[in-house]
Amino acid sequence: MKTTVSLIKADIGSSPGHVTVYEPLMERAEELLDKAKDENIIIDFVVFNAGDDTELLMTHERGVDSEEIHKLAWDTFMDLTNEAKAIGLYGTGQDLLKDTFAGNIKGMGPGIAEIELEERPAEPIIVFAMDKTEPGAFNYPIFQMFANPFNTAGLVIDPKLHSGFQFSVMDIYKAKFLELSCPEDMYDLLALIGAPGKYVIKYVNSKDPALGRAAAISTDKLSLVAGKYVGKDDPVAVIRSQSGFPAVGELVEAFTLGHLVSGWMRGSHRGPLMPVPLEYSQCVRFDGPPRVVGLGFQLKNGLLRGGVDLFDDPSFDRTRERVNEIADYIRSHGPFEPSRLPLSEMEYTTLPGILKKFEDKFHD
Ligand code: 13P
Ligand code: 13P
Ligand code: MG
Ligand code: MG
Repeated sequence: MKTTVSLIKADIGSSPGHVTVYEPLMERAEELLDKAKDENIIIDFVVFNAGDDTELLMTHERGVDSEEIHKLAWDTFMDLTNEAKAIGLYGTGQDLLKDTFAGNIKGMGPGIAEIELEERPAEPIIVFAMDKTEPGAFNYPIFQMFANPFNTAGLVIDPKLHSGFQFSVMDIYKAKFLELSCPEDMYDLLALIGAPGKYVIKYVNSKDPALGRAAAISTDKLSLVAGKYVGKDDPVAVIRSQSGFPAVGELVEAFTLGHLVSGWMRGSHRGPLMPVPLEYSQCVRFDGPPRVVGLGFQLKNGLLRGGVDLFDDPSFDRTRERVNEIADYIRSHGPFEPSRLPLSEMEYTTLPGILKKFEDKFHD
């Protein structure tokens, strides 16, 4: 049987400000998905949050881009948004940019990452969700996981990983894709994904056709969908692990740097990405620092078993300490670049309005 893992997320409103999802609304989402499970639309699900984003992790047999699954997510987010409005949460329906569902949730605001797979006898599924950053924030860790032998020992010593992986890179401004292979095209790949505001890794595939897709990352660029800044499009990823894919430990190792990402306060700053357990999945200091949560499961016949909160581990304490130090340092620059994003990345914010105000006042 082929199983599809769909992770669909949206910011439907939060409390206080952009800090976190209001707990009773996650319970409401669970009720709605439980109903969909009873109706055999989905097989299993987990609802969790990444800061102020509600994450719907669902398994089913309907394949990727299923109208039924996308509609279920859309209707769930709509229901939560109405509730969020009624109780006065902040930024309600921030990620729901259209009024009516039109067959596919892509381009409507929510972020989506899906993999359809033939379940192996043991199928570890890992999901990562970030808040206060952009899809390109996954470029660095995904490269580490699937292309850097200093991160992923298996690329050197496991014959099943030794031939490397294929990457599908998206130009998010033009919605065009390019396939590059590692290790062969590694320098070309880095030339592109080193610019995470424009080139984003969308998929990683195994070179073994029997294994197929290894990773899918959401690439929905809210600012481009909406035409103006309405919040960063906090991304998610679904990744397969072990036996031909990186080990679980190799996947999480990719987050030990606390790498710098774009987002943070008002989606307009650079900051280090902090890996946190769900307990700390809330963005507080300067609306951040940007955070990532990671959950791991064993998938069998569509059921998600043995869920583990992967960053709930003292081995990430040092990363978190370093992130706090870097946050202090970069914050002390205030509104100066590179703490604040460069003009090229501010063009979808309020800055063009400020520049317009002085359009006629610049003189020779
Ligand atoms: P085990 O021997 O504990 O299964 O670990 C194997 C492995 O590859 C760890 O990354
Ligand atoms: P979100 O994109 O997470 O809603 O954050 C928006 C923001 O402006 C934070 O300061
Ligand atoms: Mg928000
Ligand atoms: Mg958010």
